[in-house]
Amino acid sequence: MVVIIVVEWKGGDVARTVGGGQKVRWLKKELLKHSEKKELVIMFVDSYDVIFASGPEELLTKFNRLGHRVVFSAEGFCWPDQRLASKYPEVHSGKRYLNSGGFIGFAPDLSAMVQQWKYKDNDDDQLFYTRIYLDKAQRFNMTLDHRSRIFQNLNGAIGEIQTRVSPEGA
Ligand SMILES: *[C@@H]1O[C@H](CO)[C@@H](O)[C@H](O)[C@H]1NC(C)=O
Repeated sequence: MVVIIVVEWKGGDVARTVGGGQKVRWLKKELLKHSEKKELVIMFVDSYDVIFASGPEELLTKFNRLGHRVVFSAEGFCWPDQRLASKYPEVHSGKRYLNSGGFIGFAPDLSAMVQQWKYKDNDDDQLFYTRIYLDKAQRFNMTLDHRSRIFQNLNGAIGEIQTRVSPEGA
């Protein structure tokens, strides 16, 4: 099922500065409807700078293989607060920092996470999720898609992308 919500954007110019909180406010409301569905897996994506690394069934398999309740996409920059960089666990390969442009998780966990949003529409969504990820006391079972198995972010990563079109049936 795909739910597309179209409303007036008040979340700031996210291409240029921080912002994006309005997305979390919508999610907070929408996910409340699904918070009891223990088996339901929900994926959230931003429209403009994330691509999927495979088709829906394979994405679900990859999510299950990562063995966490919630998986966020990863990027090579610590944004918007670089002072948090040193608080991130080190990674041996792949991208170290949380990117909120794509995430996937079980409905009750995602809902509980976004119910903590109590900020303004132009406050930063990525900072909100980053704080939750870095706060071990919250005990959310989260990890990052360090090796871009599920989400490929385009922000700062254009050089990593190769597009190949396979002949049908190949
Ligand atoms: C995290 O979630 C996975 C998948 O539900 C589970 O197998 C694992 O035991 C959990 N880990 C912790 C530390 O709760």
